[in-house]
Amino acid sequence: MNYETLLFDLKDGVALITINRPDKLNALNDQVLEELGSAAERLATEDPIKGAILTGAGRKAFVAGADIGELAKQGAFDGKARALRGQAVLRRLETCGKPLLAAVNGYALGGGCELAMACHLRIASENARFGQPEVKLGIAPGYGGTQRLPRLVGKGNALYLILTGEMIDAGEAHRIGLVNKVVPAEQLLAEAEKMLRGILAMGPLAVRLALEAVERGLGMTLEDGLLLEANHFGLLAGTRDMKEGLTAFLEKRAPRFEGR
Ligand code: COA
Repeated sequence: MNYETLLFDLKDGVALITINRPDKLNALNDQVLEELGSAAERLATEDPIKGAILTGAGRKAFVAGADIGELAKQGAFDGKARALRGQAVLRRLETCGKPLLAAVNGYALGGGCELAMACHLRIASENARFGQPEVKLGIAPGYGGTQRLPRLVGKGNALYLILTGEMIDAGEAHRIGLVNKVVPAEQLLAEAEKMLRGILAMGPLAVRLALEAVERGLGMTLEDGLLLEANHFGLLAGTRDMKEGLTAFLEKRAPRFEGR
């Protein structure tokens, strides 16, 4: 697929995906969502892509929400269909099996906050602003905000943001656990790449199965989640990478992981 609203650059295994509608603060219209769905499929299926960073074009916004112009035209059934489409795209990103970081460079509102939450980690510039302002428009979050936000920051913080529609700054987002790290704006992409390359230097099978256990396990009973974890632990115990990692520690040298 040729992208018109995304930039997709692959460098040494790291895909940099930039939502590129800066004149509309990178708002998620149907075309952006369709192209993001295709990008998610590439992440999940293309072996040369080892991990990805998702960001927004320009300094002002990561994503300022779903495209309000499109929302204004919808009725009950196409509204539901839009929510389901958006949820599916974000879930495909979340379950792509490769580490995905959001580099949040400004407003992450509504669908933008939801998109950042579907990423595995969030690194924010000092000027980032987060919020779920949907209630101000007479709607409620539709791309997973009511589900992922309480899982990330707890029910009390989530309800505060969803019911008041208030925007919070990067420091507050960090305090409540919505973002993992806050950095100066000019260092955002470099810091995101550093964090991702650090993860990619770990045992790749271990990273993949740890991601899967957390993403899938959250929807399971504790018993089932623990069984999934033990199965993954056993699977990893049969890999060359585990032997290499443990041997390298004992020999006081850096491991050379091969992903098998
Ligand atoms: N959907 C569609 N267009 C949007 C948008 C959105 N979610 N957010 C911003 N834009 C557009 C504006 O309409 C404007 O376009 P125009 O220049 O053609 O008029 C452009 O992006 C710049 O936005 P503007 O509002 O002029 O910037 P600002 O600095 O004054 O305000 C915000 C920035 C983020 C506070 C403001 O744009 C805003 O509140 N956006 C909506 C946020 C929201 O409710 N998101 C949830 C949607 S469900």
